[in-house]
Amino acid sequence: MGMHPGTPGQPGHSRNQRDELREPRPATAAIDAPVVDVTNLRAWYVTRQFGVQREVRAVDDVSLQVRRNEIYGLAGESSCGKSTLIKTIAGAVRPPLEVLGGSVLFDFHGEHLDLYRSPPAARAAIRWKHLSYVMQGSMSVLNPVRRVRHSFVDFAYRHIGGSIADFENTVRAHLERLQLRPGVLEAYPHELSGGMRQRVAIALATVCRPELIIADEPTTALDVIVQKGVLGMIREVQRELQSSLLFVTHDMAVHAYLCDRLGVMYAGRLIEEAPTADIFRAPLHPYTRHLIASLPRIGQAARMDALKGAPPNLAAPPAGCRFHPRCPLAMEVCSQQVPPLETLTPGHRVACFAVTPPATPASAPVSVSPTQVSTRAAPPGDSR
Ligand SMILES: Nc1ncnc2c1ncn2[C@@H]1O[C@H](COP(=O)(O)OP(=O)(O)O)[C@@H](O)[C@H]1O
Ligand code: SF4
Ligand SMILES: [Mg+2]
Repeated sequence: MGMHPGTPGQPGHSRNQRDELREPRPATAAIDAPVVDVTNLRAWYVTRQFGVQREVRAVDDVSLQVRRNEIYGLAGESSCGKSTLIKTIAGAVRPPLEVLGGSVLFDFHGEHLDLYRSPPAARAAIRWKHLSYVMQGSMSVLNPVRRVRHSFVDFAYRHIGGSIADFENTVRAHLERLQLRPGVLEAYPHELSGGMRQRVAIALATVCRPELIIADEPTTALDVIVQKGVLGMIREVQRELQSSLLFVTHDMAVHAYLCDRLGVMYAGRLIEEAPTADIFRAPLHPYTRHLIASLPRIGQAARMDALKGAPPNLAAPPAGCRFHPRCPLAMEVCSQQVPPLETLTPGHRVACFAVTPPATPASAPVSVSPTQVSTRAAPPGDSR
């Protein structure tokens, strides 16, 4: 569930609790080959009704890498394309979502997979073993009418193999590592609290020791105390397994607490990326600055003014910089050219003409990057 950037955070969070969540995490990630390399990815929802085609450009030319043993946070307000991006990275693409260009390359300790140039069976084979998903609603993975142990057997057994007794020992050891009672295996999901169900879902997603864990708003529905416990558990399991974690939430305070690096999305595009500490210390994109300035602070009586306007309709996004109708710094060029995501300092990328002025004058024709991969021609007059 998303929120307006003017009202970030969970309802009911006290300022002290929020402040603790904001405590920055020391950067410990090793710099290594990326576990996933996403290049110029484009994934749209394409629907046809009464002969009219509608395209929701939810992910439009996104490039990012998640390194080994790091927590990469994906930020941005609701409907900016975070879930669509990670579904596409995880290979969970179902109609009407279509991948129209770009690539997703995995390197699972030397086992390489070019996701959208591989057969469906190869795509399916990476789930659970190499890559796993933790969703907001734990019920989507735990079978509501069967005891928790059955969900473990159904999803994880074939990936771990061995005898069922060995499998049960592996599961129990994993639960113990995550400080969960083995008794949870005998419970039905409805007998567990929301926080406990989410912990069990995390245990299930990580029992096969995947190299990449993707978590989509896994704590958004929980109250702040339970949320903090679940976030702590996610961090522990990532450290223990030395996995990479791609963590999605609209809540910047959670990102500050958890993530090594942060990518900020706006209207289907990545607009800024940097180590978390750098983003919070010196955000460069006006949208990122707004997200951070909107966080409540102790002693601050008034909230920052809300941004004017609303996020754009991704079926007809604004030309040029998609943030320009709301941007306090917008210039003429911003409605005419797409600001490229440029590396400003090592590790810090930003897409904003106020930070990196355009090479060509505003009135010049819009250039199209030769690296842009798309199997679909843009509509006439489209300069996105
Ligand atoms: N099944 C769908 N069909 C059409 N549009 C969709 C569908 N699912 C999501 N969208 C649209 O895609 C955009 C991005 O959504 P989403 O990836 O869920 O964003 P976020 O996770 O950041 O909230 C939104 O405009 C949303 O309305
Ligand atoms: S490119 Fe222009 S409109 Fe977009 S964020 Fe920068 S200044 Fe604002
Ligand atoms: Mg989402």
